[in-house]
Amino acid sequence: MSGIKIIGMGHSVPKKVLTNQDLEAMVETSDEWIRTRTGIRERRICRGETHADLCVRSAQQALACAQVQPEEIGAVIVCTLSADYLTPSAACLVQRRLHLPEDTLSFDLNAACSGFLYGLHTMECLLAACPRKFGLVIGAEALSHLVDYQDRSTCVLFGDGAGAAVVQYRPEWPSIHAVLGARGDAGPLSIPGAGRGLPNTVSMDGQAVFRFAVETLPKCIDAVLSAAGLTPEDPDCYVFHQANARIIDLAARRYNLPPEKVAKNIDRYGNTSAASIPLLLSELWQAGTIGPGSRVLCVGFGGGLTWGGALVELGVRTNETAQ
Ligand SMILES: CC(C)(COP(=O)(O)OP(=O)(O)OC[C@H]1O[C@@H](n2cnc3c(N)ncnc32)[C@H](O)[C@@H]1OP(=O)(O)O)[C@@H](O)C(=O)NCCC(=O)NCCS
Repeated sequence: MSGIKIIGMGHSVPKKVLTNQDLEAMVETSDEWIRTRTGIRERRICRGETHADLCVRSAQQALACAQVQPEEIGAVIVCTLSADYLTPSAACLVQRRLHLPEDTLSFDLNAACSGFLYGLHTMECLLAACPRKFGLVIGAEALSHLVDYQDRSTCVLFGDGAGAAVVQYRPEWPSIHAVLGARGDAGPLSIPGAGRGLPNTVSMDGQAVFRFAVETLPKCIDAVLSAAGLTPEDPDCYVFHQANARIIDLAARRYNLPPEKVAKNIDRYGNTSAASIPLLLSELWQAGTIGPGSRVLCVGFGGGLTWGGALVELGVRTNETAQ
């Protein structure tokens, strides 16, 4: 035993809404095609707002919700592949703008759409060794800068946003039972970096990613349930990466999960990669659907290829000295 609980959450999305109707005017597509194939109605895109703005706003909300002061934070991880700069990292920008202490470990983590779960696990390990036992894990993306708005097969899918979690580590709390993995392959999904001589926009084999997702989700669910000693009925809620409503519905049917236990917000935000899980968790918390005491089984999957699952427990801050 020893682990983290999420004790506060926040989220932030850009003001600018890009609807399916807007996209109809940009590429040969239709609202009907997008809704039936993906479940998406609209997404948000950063125009005049930065990736760092989304990180900072979501983190401020999460700190307020957790009743944790900036000087209590020991580490900040921003899970992202679309930050404003390659360096300084988004985490360094957050460190400065939130006035976190200068000995705060601050770095970005790229595990694509599995990033937030990689981030939570990394934070759980880090805080075990860190003198300050509170950490900030942010999933944030400004993917609209990396999308080719002439490619209808990808531009309808992605959106921008951020979600942040303040976590606390205590030796007597259970681990999040993270199950993480990777199978390196640029074929199904890639965004070339500088030096590849290619446009740095998303290219994707949608059907290959779909198959990967449908196979991976149940494997992650089974592995987390087994590690935690639970059955599918036990988690209070399931939060899956919001890539396609059909992928989520297939997993829900396979485990006979009632619709009210399988949350979705893909219709409003599309696929926000590393932001999708914390953005949805934060909305559910603010709506009162989940809160302290809830156990949420989360699964992410995506570019890399990467995958991750974890049983995330929500709680309230506990003083270091309390038993
Ligand atoms: C991308 C995705 C929605 C496409 O749905 P699909 O049912 O597999 O559709 P296909 O790729 O087979 O394309 C079917 C047809 O629709 C067309 N099409 C593709 N995008 C379109 C769009 N935006 N509007 C209208 N038609 C479109 C294709 O050209 C194809 O036409 P054709 O039959 O004449 O060749 C789906 O494969 C998917 O969600 N994959 C996973 C993507 C994902 O999760 N990515 C991120 C991972 S984190």
